[in-house]
Amino acid sequence: MAEDKGLVCVTGGTGFIASWLIMKLLQQGYTVRTTIRSHRDNLGFLTSLEGAKERLHFFHADLNEPDSFRAAIEGCRGVFHVAHPVGNTNEKPEEELTKMTVGGTLGILKLCVDSKTVKRVVYTSSAATVVYKGDGRQVVDENTWSDIDLFRSMKTGAEAYMASKTKTEKAALEFAQKNGLDLFTVIPTLVVGPFLCPNLPVSVRMALAMVLGSENHYRYLQGTSIVHVDDVASAHIFLFENPNAKAGRYICSYQELPLSELSAFLSSNYPDIKVPTADSLKDIKGFNKSTCSSKKLLDSGFKFKYGLESMFDGAIQSCKEKGHIPS
Ligand SMILES: NC(=O)c1ccc[n+]([C@@H]2O[C@H](COP(=O)([O-])OP(=O)(O)OC[C@H]3O[C@@H](n4cnc5c(N)ncnc54)[C@H](OP(=O)(O)O)[C@@H]3O)[C@@H](O)[C@H]2O)c1
Repeated sequence: MAEDKGLVCVTGGTGFIASWLIMKLLQQGYTVRTTIRSHRDNLGFLTSLEGAKERLHFFHADLNEPDSFRAAIEGCRGVFHVAHPVGNTNEKPEEELTKMTVGGTLGILKLCVDSKTVKRVVYTSSAATVVYKGDGRQVVDENTWSDIDLFRSMKTGAEAYMASKTKTEKAALEFAQKNGLDLFTVIPTLVVGPFLCPNLPVSVRMALAMVLGSENHYRYLQGTSIVHVDDVASAHIFLFENPNAKAGRYICSYQELPLSELSAFLSSNYPDIKVPTADSLKDIKGFNKSTCSSKKLLDSGFKFKYGLESMFDGAIQSCKEKGHIPS
């Protein structure tokens, strides 16, 4: 086994990004406590990970009851707070969702301070907190915050999610500043790649919209930037471990991928899969989104490992293995 790296907590272990992060933390010698909601079963994709038998421990916790995270956090060196409702979030009114995610997250941060053992917290934010600003033509960095009224007016159908991510990250940074907590926020764009969880992750479904024939998703993909799930997990660990990194926000995005380029990429790399031509997509209007710059993360010494081929090869392979597309 790799050297013993100590005890950390990952919230929402059943999720796409969190399960990948847990796999990497175990591979690198960490002992991991992960929180799951009490209704979850079928955890074989986590219990079968290398090192899980000895070093992965499950706790029940829900953001609706922040104190339920106490047992998982007590005694940990670090906390990776990844859990957040994703997909169909507009089923809940924005105010109710935001109250739950802000309350849950601040509760977790308070438990981290109270623990006296947690040295660093890494929170998974979202590009939704930075890209909706102005006319969408600028390149934005960590000093930018999305304009909540602007994305509410766009009627994307994901306003509640975007508002809850924006307000949660802001509240978390404010809490950390006031309480002297070392908080790092990772701000990923659309996360694509292979997956461990049995369900099809929302972001992979979105990225593979042309492969799956989900035309109603095309407009969300227009002007979207993407990043490999392994790079996102590595960025979390990099910021946790790097003694020189300064607490704060870090955008994690590999590249912008216009719809026409995605179509050209898919048809040349997967000739057996029928995808719409770039020409047939030219009239699809997206939402005004700015481009994210990962300069701060790169300047801190982080390196992206994976390009488009790995993202889509991995995603398509996992979909075939788990029966989401025919093999
Ligand atoms: N994937 C992306 O493209 C992307 C991009 C930017 C940011 N993010 C952020 O990355 C994080 C993980 O996203 P993901 O793509 O991995 O989504 P995911 O697969 O849906 O994972 C979300 C996790 O949060 C848990 N969760 C939901 N509601 C909860 C609650 N009330 N209490 C406790 N746990 C709860 C889920 O548990 P159940 O399994 O029980 O539902 C699941 O484990 C989220 O914070 C998301 O905003 C994702």
